[in-house]
Amino acid sequence: MARLAVTETFFGIQFPGHLHTQDSLQAAASFPFRPSDVLLVTYPKSGTTWMQEILTFIHSEGDPEPAKTIPNWARLPWLEHLYMGTLMEPKGPRLLTTHLPYPALEEALAKAKPKVIYVARNPKDVAVSYYHFCRMANFFPDPGSFEEFAQKFLDGTVHYGSWFEHIKGWLSCQDELNITYFTYEELHQDLEGCVERLSAFLGLPMKPGLVESIRMHCSFASMSKNTMVNTTLIPKEILDTSKGQFMRKGIAGDWKNHFSAPLSERFNTKFQEELGGQAKHFQWVMD
Ligand code: A3P
Repeated sequence: MARLAVTETFFGIQFPGHLHTQDSLQAAASFPFRPSDVLLVTYPKSGTTWMQEILTFIHSEGDPEPAKTIPNWARLPWLEHLYMGTLMEPKGPRLLTTHLPYPALEEALAKAKPKVIYVARNPKDVAVSYYHFCRMANFFPDPGSFEEFAQKFLDGTVHYGSWFEHIKGWLSCQDELNITYFTYEELHQDLEGCVERLSAFLGLPMKPGLVESIRMHCSFASMSKNTMVNTTLIPKEILDTSKGQFMRKGIAGDWKNHFSAPLSERFNTKFQEELGGQAKHFQWVMD
């Protein structure tokens, strides 16, 4: 099950053999979506767990019970993970999560057009968060120094592939899919506005007290203590918590503590080259 040293390649991208097999990846690509499904899509370290928690509360109408008693990976299972089949809900709506690139799911999504929620985060902060996670997660190769890891991130040779390709792919399908976009930074700046927008997109009423409940239970401090999301249920040989915490800092802009000026410049150049025209959609502080 752990397969910590195995790497799977799918759609030209490397995935950790821990929780991914060729069969599980293929099953995701041909998943029989229903229009009532909700699919959360992220590149790793972009705020996936935070959005999973918020979606849980929107669906429970603010009741903390599911978030406090069911692990996040069972509430919004990862489509491409090998345990996925065992968690299939017989009835909809199903809440699902994926890190897969758009081309891998294009065909499956086109048929049923479920609701898709994409969460993006400043790539500089993603690189920092990902680096620290790789240091503690034994299913990733040793990331080396931050500078080395950040260069691989820019080159798109880290596991889960290029951040730039991931976001470009998922931005390219706006006319084909029922998709909406959020950023990690927006969740910080305007949680209430995000909950309103999410509820409207999902067609769910905002019950009185919902935002307050989300503010209380989905804060960084609360989630850090919640064993259903803080990864402390995962064995130490898989996630070595002596090397770091999954709920690490939870802030925007930590990249400034890690990036040298030349590295920052290389990120800015690549960002402009790859996303220049669309950069205005993201309020990220890149300098
Ligand atoms: P940091 O490593 O920068 O702290 P993912 O869930 O996609 O793996 O993303 C993990 C990142 O989201 C981590 O970032 C984690 O601390 C942050 N995060 C998780 N829950 C959060 C919350 N409630 N508020 C702010 N950040 C949160």
